[in-house]
Amino acid sequence: MRWCTPVGMAMVTCGLSSASAAWRPATAGQDPGVQVDTSYGCIVCHADKRRAFVVGVHAERGIRCHDCHGGTPTAYETRAAHTRGFIGDPGKVRTVAICSSCHADPNRMRQYGVSTGQLAELRTSRHGQLLLQRGDTAAPTCTDCHDAHTILPPVDARSSVNPVNIPGTCGRCHEDQRLMARYGLPTNQLAEFRRSAHGVALFENRDFAAPTCVGCHGSHGALPPRVTEIANVCGHCHALVGRAFAAGPHAASARAGRLPGCLACHSNHGTERVPPEQLAALCARCHEQNSPAAALAQQVQQEIVRVTEELRVAEVALEELVRSGEPVVDTRFRYQTALTYFRQVAQVQHNLDLEQLSDLTRRAGSIARDIRAVAEARRERRWEHRLFLIPVWFFTLAAVTIAGFKLADLRRRGE
Ligand code: HEC
Ligand code: HEC
Ligand code: HEC
Ligand code: HEC
Ligand code: HEC
Ligand code: HEC
Ligand code: HEC
Ligand code: HEC
Ligand code: HEC
Repeated sequence: MRWCTPVGMAMVTCGLSSASAAWRPATAGQDPGVQVDTSYGCIVCHADKRRAFVVGVHAERGIRCHDCHGGTPTAYETRAAHTRGFIGDPGKVRTVAICSSCHADPNRMRQYGVSTGQLAELRTSRHGQLLLQRGDTAAPTCTDCHDAHTILPPVDARSSVNPVNIPGTCGRCHEDQRLMARYGLPTNQLAEFRRSAHGVALFENRDFAAPTCVGCHGSHGALPPRVTEIANVCGHCHALVGRAFAAGPHAASARAGRLPGCLACHSNHGTERVPPEQLAALCARCHEQNSPAAALAQQVQQEIVRVTEELRVAEVALEELVRSGEPVVDTRFRYQTALTYFRQVAQVQHNLDLEQLSDLTRRAGSIARDIRAVAEARRERRWEHRLFLIPVWFFTLAAVTIAGFKLADLRRRGE
């Protein structure tokens, strides 16, 4: 059974339950855009496309079959209906023209606040070049990433271009080994992305600030960033890191294209934070032993390893305080402050300015040591408390024993 319910002025929600038998036209009240009338010939025969009539933003704007396919919607006979500029299945290349007839036209789209750059961007991308210049239909057209008949806006969780669904939409082709082998491209991007800090943020924490594929490549203009562009692509979100990197010793080489920016130390799809104990080894990939850079690497590693350990100890100390029921509001606040300095360390170290770095590690470390000292002092106090109780227990035990003897003695006498 199909059902449609009007929601407000311009929205209709529809569903399809398993036993699809009769279909009732929507009763969408005042909005003529969504009123399904069976006098529209196309949907009398093409019943499987009726959804396009009621679900999605196109339906809401009254965009109908003949707006894309042409034809005569008032006819009820196939031949008569499929006339007047009728376009059957448009195929991939013609689809671009159909969608762009509206979406590349600012005069049409301005009123909806929808940008009109999709076609222009697609042309600049690898996808567009293949499809539009070489007619290679392995490249995506508009409807490989969007549905042709039920267009949902990107914010809708069911949309193929909702952030959470984008990696799957791209992966449909980019994980296809047979297809990608033709272009000599690897197919590991999605698998690596899932495991990366970005993938975990997106899929597990639903953190929409994390990039999906299009956060680094662009959606319609999808291209891998050029070597000289990488630091800007990442720095767009990681602004503090980007600024620190730009002030550091690697920036000039990155700008000149001799160093792949952030990818000198991080992976593009499997992006992770560098573990502190592997830092010097990482630098050693490019810098010779005994060079000044290698010496700096050792110092930076020491600083970061030390402050990491100090914070770990502080965390354990804080947990101990919580377990033993001590008041911790103040300590917890101080711990957060130390963590903030620690975060800044990770960002600021990108300029490899040792002085600035050790200033921050000193601040974080000093708070961490304070927290440990507080926990130790409290622990000692708890011990003293227990020690103080020993004589009390001793006397109690002695009193009970003596009383026991006395009682036994009295009983013996009474016998
Ligand atoms: C009387 C029934 C009928 C009506 C009315 C009708 N169609 Fe069709 N349509 C069919 C049939 C049957 C086919 C498949 C055979 C063919 O291609 O001719 C078809 C094929 C199509 C195809 C191409 C499918 C393909 O795989 O190539 C499109 C697109 C299409 N119709 C759109 C429309 C549109 C738009 C309208 C309204 C203007 C419409 N039809 C009206 C019966 C109808
Ligand atoms: C926004 C433009 C647009 C609208 C509106 C539209 N179509 Fe389509 N249609 C397409 C495109 C593009 C394709 C190409 C196939 C694809 O990429 O999915 C297509 C394919 C088809 C096909 C053949 C392939 C298939 O999926 O069976 C049929 C039949 C069809 N449309 C019928 C309809 C009917 C009936 C309506 C009205 C309810 C309609 N279309 C509304 C763009 C549109
Ligand atoms: C007849 C004109 C027209 C055609 C043809 C057309 N669209 Fe649209 N499209 C619109 C309008 C108007 C909107 C804005 C609806 C709104 O924002 O309420 C829209 C909205 C969209 C949106 C959602 C934008 C957003 O941010 O909410 C997407 C995605 C989209 N169209 C994709 C397509 C695709 C893909 C095709 C081709 C298969 C296509 N459109 C063909 C007019 C058209
Ligand atoms: C390779 C996949 C892909 C192709 C091909 C593609 N799109 Fe998109 N489109 C997306 C993604 C992903 C979004 C989500 C918005 C974003 O993150 O940029 C989107 C968003 C949109 C929007 C919403 C407004 C905007 O620009 O963000 C419209 C409209 C749209 N696409 C239309 C089109 C049209 C028209 C075509 C064909 C000329 C097309 N798309 C081709 C992936 C694609
Ligand atoms: C319909 C299949 C298909 C879909 C869907 C698709 N792609 Fe592609 N993509 C290709 C093909 C084919 C190439 C061409 C490879 C070439 O020529 O090097 C390509 C190339 C690329 C390239 C350029 C690689 C290079 O080094 O040349 C990037 C980047 C890319 N796609 C990203 C994306 C993103 C991001 C999405 C999702 C928004 C996506 N693709 C969706 C098929 C697809
Ligand atoms: C669209 C914004 C965006 C872009 C573009 C982006 N990132 Fe991220 N990145 C995030 C978010 C959000 C997180 C997860 C939140 C967090 O832990 O800070 C993150 C996490 C990270 C982490 C792990 C941080 C940690 O503490 O575990 C690293 C390393 C990283 N990104 C490096 C990069 C690199 C390198 C690039 C470019 C190749 C890049 N990012 C591009 C937003 C972005
Ligand atoms: C954090 C940024 C970032 C994200 C997220 C990202 N990419 Fe990439 N991608 C890059 C960079 C940078 C390159 C270029 C690497 C180089 O030049 O060595 C690249 C290269 C590519 C290539 C070219 C072939 C290759 O593997 O080197 C393809 C295809 C690709 N990415 C697809 C994807 C897809 C699909 C997704 C989503 C699952 C995705 N990318 C997510 C940054 C990113
Ligand atoms: C992918 C290779 C690569 C990695 C990894 C790398 N560097 Fe560099 N480093 C370079 C290049 C290239 C230069 C620029 C040399 C020039 O411009 O003459 C440079 C320059 C420097 C300089 C400026 C002084 C000098 O020796 O030229 C310092 C300091 C430095 N790096 C430290 C580090 C540290 C610390 C790490 C690890 C956190 C590191 N580098 C990781 C390639 C790398
Ligand atoms: C020379 C090597 C190197 C380069 C180049 C590099 N990073 Fe890092 N990055 C590191 C190291 C080492 C860490 C871990 C620092 C720590 O644990 O304190 C790190 C940590 C990070 C983090 C985690 C910070 C946080 O808040 O937790 C992000 C995000 C990040 N890098 C992004 C980038 C971006 C963006 C670029 C390019 C602009 C870049 N990195 C370039 C070595 C590098």
